[in-house]
Amino acid sequence: MEAAIIPPQSAGYNIETEWVEGEPFDWNTVNARFTWNTTGKVNMAYECIDRHVDEGNGERIALHYLSEEEEFTYTFSELKREVNRWANVLLRYGVKKGDFVFVFLPKHPYCHIAMFAAIKIGAVVGPLFEAFMEEAVKDRINDCEGKYLITEDSFLDRVNREEMPSLSTVFTIDKTDGAIPSITSEAEKASTELDTVWVDLEDGLNIHYTSGSTGKPKGIIHAHRNMIQQFQTGRWVLDLKEEDVYWCTAHPGWVTGTVYGVFAPLLNGVTTVIHGGRFSAKAWYEVLEKAKVSVWYSAPTAFRMLKGQSEGIHAHYDLSSLRHILSVGEPLNPEVIHWAYQTWGLRIHDTWWMTETGAQLIANLPTRPIKPGSMGKPIPGIEVEILDEEGQPLPPQETGHLAIRSTWPSIMKEVWKNPDKFASYFPFGEDWYLAGDLAYVDEEGYVFFQGRSDDMINSSGERIGPFEVESKLLEHPAVRESGVIGKPDPLRGEIVKAFIVVRDGYKDRDGLMEDLRRFVKTELAGHCAPREIEFIDELPKTQISGKVLRRELKKRDKVNS
Ligand code: WT7
Repeated sequence: MEAAIIPPQSAGYNIETEWVEGEPFDWNTVNARFTWNTTGKVNMAYECIDRHVDEGNGERIALHYLSEEEEFTYTFSELKREVNRWANVLLRYGVKKGDFVFVFLPKHPYCHIAMFAAIKIGAVVGPLFEAFMEEAVKDRINDCEGKYLITEDSFLDRVNREEMPSLSTVFTIDKTDGAIPSITSEAEKASTELDTVWVDLEDGLNIHYTSGSTGKPKGIIHAHRNMIQQFQTGRWVLDLKEEDVYWCTAHPGWVTGTVYGVFAPLLNGVTTVIHGGRFSAKAWYEVLEKAKVSVWYSAPTAFRMLKGQSEGIHAHYDLSSLRHILSVGEPLNPEVIHWAYQTWGLRIHDTWWMTETGAQLIANLPTRPIKPGSMGKPIPGIEVEILDEEGQPLPPQETGHLAIRSTWPSIMKEVWKNPDKFASYFPFGEDWYLAGDLAYVDEEGYVFFQGRSDDMINSSGERIGPFEVESKLLEHPAVRESGVIGKPDPLRGEIVKAFIVVRDGYKDRDGLMEDLRRFVKTELAGHCAPREIEFIDELPKTQISGKVLRRELKKRDKVNS
């Protein structure tokens, strides 16, 4: 067993004043933090922005944007006015409470503004990852019959309107000649005053599509009540304090980018950094230095890439503002924690949660020792159990199904039009939510991730359904059969690997590999494209139903590599 890394003396918000370890935590005590607790008027956008203006903090910086070309900020007052203008435009185009408004934009304050404008008038926002290709966009919007889309001109070639009949209006953020409405041009003329549409805590807030091992991605809907846990984990786990500058590197198209890149920091009134542009160690160190980032939330693959590129350069940057680092999305290997501790003098705090859970449930709190290799312990108010195949609790050190006692404030509201899928998370009755992860717990309650119990692939922290990639590959004329697995990879955790049975007559195997990769990349999304392809004579299948046995493919791959 590796030695634990103890917290520095100054670490962290003093959680013990609110909660005694081992005792239950009453989430209702958090309600007092919100204006609706006294006014009865609920809206996430109001709590993230307007309340800070009302409390006299309107001149504080809400958003700090940096890219290679530009750098600018929005104060909370400016953000409020801009969101109101955009919301007024949306109202004029008929957006109503409960409508789905999709936002398909790069990392930029406009993405935040579009999201809040929709939320503030009661719509359910669907942020789309900027690298989604035509089919990924279409599948999502068609599934929930999305009516509105806010995007930019350069993304329009991935928006196939003919095949999305529910879409009534597509807005661009560019100043166009009027071919489609320009939300920025119209917002300039719109009022900065807005009557917020008050909602119920249980009303829909956002939808994120997420993959499992079967079928197309499912729409996970979250409710405004999520703010309770998102605010509180912002304090306890992110350790956010008024003077912090906080940077979450995820795009809002992933749930981390929405919950911890948009909601949690602004609920806490903290300056949120947005970096426009791609990853490079140099670009990221520049952001950390220039924006004086103090709290930083990223993912293991990014840390591993930084480790690979940091040699000789990190010392050139002034990272003295940085005080708290967190990670999520995939296993954080101990080597990276040790490297970071040596290089930056700080611990990386792993956290665990899922799209469906709406907020962090397991985490390394700043005041606790970190055991490298563990995701930490359940946060206050969350109870974790490891269950066997029959749903019985297992003793410490034994691996089984990671289960969370339901319920908690930010659990998903529903899986869109799919109650069976929702029920499938509770195979042992409604008391226990099953994550689909395998884990064990040690004698002190630290949780150790051991893998997935299904075939879902996790590449660079991005969740990929093998079925989706297999189906896409089958659309290619050269493919007779396909089987897709996650193959262990030192940098990305896993990579997508495809096994292909080729139709007769396709001879140019090298050319075909490249072609298949490009096919998935351009039609579905870059992160789904198989990095490795192997041609095979026959796929292993179940005898009765003829389903691809991905487990067998995994075994075969391990033996051969
Ligand atoms: C799955 C959820 C919302 C967080 C971003 C991913 C894996 C998540 C960890 C971690 C090992 C992790 C699990 C989980 N995962 N955090 N700290 N260590 N694995 O959200 O796309 O909904 O995926 O990501 O397998 O079930 P997601």
